[in-house]
Amino acid sequence: MSVLGVGLIGAGNISDTYLRLAPLFADFEIRAVSDIDMDRARAQAAGYGMRAETVDEMLSAGDIDLIVNLTVPKAHYAVSRRILEAGKHCYSEKPVVLTLDEGRALLDLAAARGLRLGSAPDTFLGGAHQTARALLDAGAIGEVVGGTAHVMSRGMEHWHPNPDFFFQPGGGPVLDLGPYYITDLVQLLGPVRAVSAMGWASFPTRTIGSGPREGETVLVETPTTLHGLMEFEGGAIVTLGASWDVWRASHPHIELYGAVGTMQLPDPNNFGGEVTVAEGPAGFAAAEVAHPFAAPNDGEEGEVANYRGAGLADMVRAIDEGRAHRCNGDLALHVVDVMLGILASAERREWVEMTTTAPRPAPLPPEAARKFLKNPEDG
Ligand SMILES: NC(=O)c1ccc[n+]([C@@H]2O[C@H](COP(=O)([O-])OP(=O)(O)OC[C@H]3O[C@@H](n4cnc5c(N)ncnc54)[C@H](O)[C@@H]3O)[C@@H](O)[C@H]2O)c1
Repeated sequence: MSVLGVGLIGAGNISDTYLRLAPLFADFEIRAVSDIDMDRARAQAAGYGMRAETVDEMLSAGDIDLIVNLTVPKAHYAVSRRILEAGKHCYSEKPVVLTLDEGRALLDLAAARGLRLGSAPDTFLGGAHQTARALLDAGAIGEVVGGTAHVMSRGMEHWHPNPDFFFQPGGGPVLDLGPYYITDLVQLLGPVRAVSAMGWASFPTRTIGSGPREGETVLVETPTTLHGLMEFEGGAIVTLGASWDVWRASHPHIELYGAVGTMQLPDPNNFGGEVTVAEGPAGFAAAEVAHPFAAPNDGEEGEVANYRGAGLADMVRAIDEGRAHRCNGDLALHVVDVMLGILASAERREWVEMTTTAPRPAPLPPEAARKFLKNPEDG
């Protein structure tokens, strides 16, 4: 297959990760960077040896087939819409949109134009999470009846130089970090039927802890502690704790309770990590994780498995092969439905039924993942 030309809109924090890791992948090449702030676009483009261009220039560029939307969540819909209207495939950072109407409009537009809409997160394609999927599908813990998922920390204002969007409507721990957890749970257990939750905005302001705005305070306009329940269509009930108000917690990131055992999964914001399984009442034992997207390749000492871009690589191959892509718009919109349901339940103090569904994305076995890589020995 020929290499697909990719452009990035949004030259902020996460663009570094895409630009740094893109050379790992065989089937796409990032050729240009754009931003509403052209100084940022020029700086990123110069750093990675590619063109900087305005959004309009990128939308009409003949060598760009697919555009990755790395803007802030409140701009996702408008930017993705322009990408599709320009006749280019669109892959968005999460959350893909902030309302179901926006998501349906993008899915309809993509279908009408014969284009693909994809979305992060792609960390569920990571070696640890795909190992868990394979074990689950092989019946290692039997039918799952319940579980827990916890994502808890003391906020985002300490490290992000412009953390405002985290604390505005459209941010908060559920919409920001929930996609990693909920997408992984949907790939493992299938779609969600209904949710309930309680939550609150525990502290009215946060103080920026780094960068040029250090010491400035930002207003908190969305709940920062939420505890929810998700009922899956298959019957399993999973607790979700999501908070930016917690100094220290010790829950496993994800724990699943099955008819014959228990499984613990590592952070679904990462590709690698340890998967442990307990058979019956026995203690936990680590499962063998033999998958290219679990091999350490990043981090200060090369200790982290980071294959961000894998979802994009899969979408590019899926276009060529005429099959569904795993990080697809239906899946991303269902996850938005779950997250908005949790927020609405907390606000209205009632259960919320999902109005969308999405099939489990296909598993990504090691041999399929290896095909995404330019040098299969990288994984
Ligand atoms: N920072 C992370 O570690 C991280 C990790 C995973 C996912 N994400 C997701 O990636 C997205 C971007 O996050 P970030 O941390 O890079 O944010 P950021 O604020 O650092 O960068 C966003 C960039 O988008 C640009 N932008 C905003 N609106 C635009 C528009 N309409 N047209 C063109 N450019 C526009 C901004 O000027 C900015 O440079 C978010 O959806 C976030 O949830 C971030």
